[in-house]
Amino acid sequence: MKLWGGRFDKAIDGAAHGFNASLPFDRRMADEDVSGSVAWARGLGRCGVLAEDEVSVLVDGMEQVRAELAEGRFAFLEGDEDIHTAVERRLGDIVGPVAGKLHTGRSRNDQVATDFRLWVMRACGRMDAAVADLQTALADSAEAHLHAPMPGYTHWQPAQAVTWGHWAMWHAWALERDRRRIATARTAASALPLGSAALAGSGFAVDRAWLAAELGFERVIANSMDAVSDRDFAVELLFAAAMTGMHLSRLSEQLILFANPSLGFVELDDAYSTGSSLMPQKKNPDMLELARGKAGRLVGNLVGLMTTLKGLPSTYDKDMQEDKEPVFDAVDTLAAALPVLTGLVETLRVREDRLIAALDPAMFATDVADRLVRAGVPFREAHGIVGRVVRAAEEQGVGIDALDAEALRAVDARLPAATEGAFDWAASLASRAAEGGTAPEALRAQLAAMREAIGSRQVGSYSSTGWAESP
Ligand code: ARG
Repeated sequence: MKLWGGRFDKAIDGAAHGFNASLPFDRRMADEDVSGSVAWARGLGRCGVLAEDEVSVLVDGMEQVRAELAEGRFAFLEGDEDIHTAVERRLGDIVGPVAGKLHTGRSRNDQVATDFRLWVMRACGRMDAAVADLQTALADSAEAHLHAPMPGYTHWQPAQAVTWGHWAMWHAWALERDRRRIATARTAASALPLGSAALAGSGFAVDRAWLAAELGFERVIANSMDAVSDRDFAVELLFAAAMTGMHLSRLSEQLILFANPSLGFVELDDAYSTGSSLMPQKKNPDMLELARGKAGRLVGNLVGLMTTLKGLPSTYDKDMQEDKEPVFDAVDTLAAALPVLTGLVETLRVREDRLIAALDPAMFATDVADRLVRAGVPFREAHGIVGRVVRAAEEQGVGIDALDAEALRAVDARLPAATEGAFDWAASLASRAAEGGTAPEALRAQLAAMREAIGSRQVGSYSSTGWAESP
């Protein structure tokens, strides 16, 4: 029995019903659907559309439905089209004909938008907490090896000495921006569509500000047509998820390179590695490769939904039913990837000996140039002088720290003094003490700022496990 059966004299085709149905995925919004209906029944009571005893019957019935859903006792039927239909049908089984009054002045269009926003708001809280956990793991790793020198790269070529602490916090800062984007998506979702009905507004004067407060929304959507059509919040969540995925992918790619035995900067814990079915010696970074790979589907979810939405002619169009699966998939993907990466970083063995061994004298070429500058040479000229030192060292087949004073003087008379002590990594690191630099004192300030950022939850106070939180 369809909610909309009145004008039809024939049942829907079986395949068409399956194609039309969203229950297989939107049942995840069951709890939100019940909350929305409970608030709506109370709202109808408050404006005198429903009698107080009717409100009580509906609310008690809805709470029974909620319990059945939560305990897995709810029997979905073949004919249930979506979660809204299923919940209302079951309410009718429990409370009888008065159930038919619940949908007064409401449409599934404002109902689904309300449910979905509540779901997204909860998901943002959980995502924020899971990203913060990975930030913490990175900050802990940074702190444990704060001053351990390592090669820094540009163009994947050895560039300058940095520290592991600097490297690890780099990635934690990227995640900090992701948390801000997640918070922004939550704010976008936190606006009430309920009371907009199908598109023109509800025919009953329900107090929407009261409804918003009751359901935990920050504000009411001002225009009923906008209310049923707006899916920006879903796109914003997908964008935040795609960006997070991109950051996880870049972090993963770097760790994959670092874990390669030819660099050997890190060793992955056995618990976060896999082996080869053929080659007994292999230790594969599958978790990192998967995290890198998942970025593709996260970006795909974003592009997919934006493409679905871009040409819609109406307010609500059924195309919009395609909004939920990409969002659920994005949230599930991050909910699976983030704790694994957190555990991987927590157990990562950082090989300080290998990091130091990888420092090449050429990485201190800029330090020589900086010393010439301190001796009064204009930087462009200093750059040219050191470039010739590099070439001379290449010609002799030695490192730039191995040229003797005579060879250095042949390039520039000021070089023997400028190269004195320039290849010392500790001095090089210490010289980069401007805010944001890799010097120990700058790093300590950075770490303190990172800890503070992590401590301030961007979205409410959620834990990264479980969905028990209220929106
Ligand atoms: N299952 C639908 C969706 O997810 C609910 C809204 C249906 N509204 C309608 N007018 N058919 O979008």
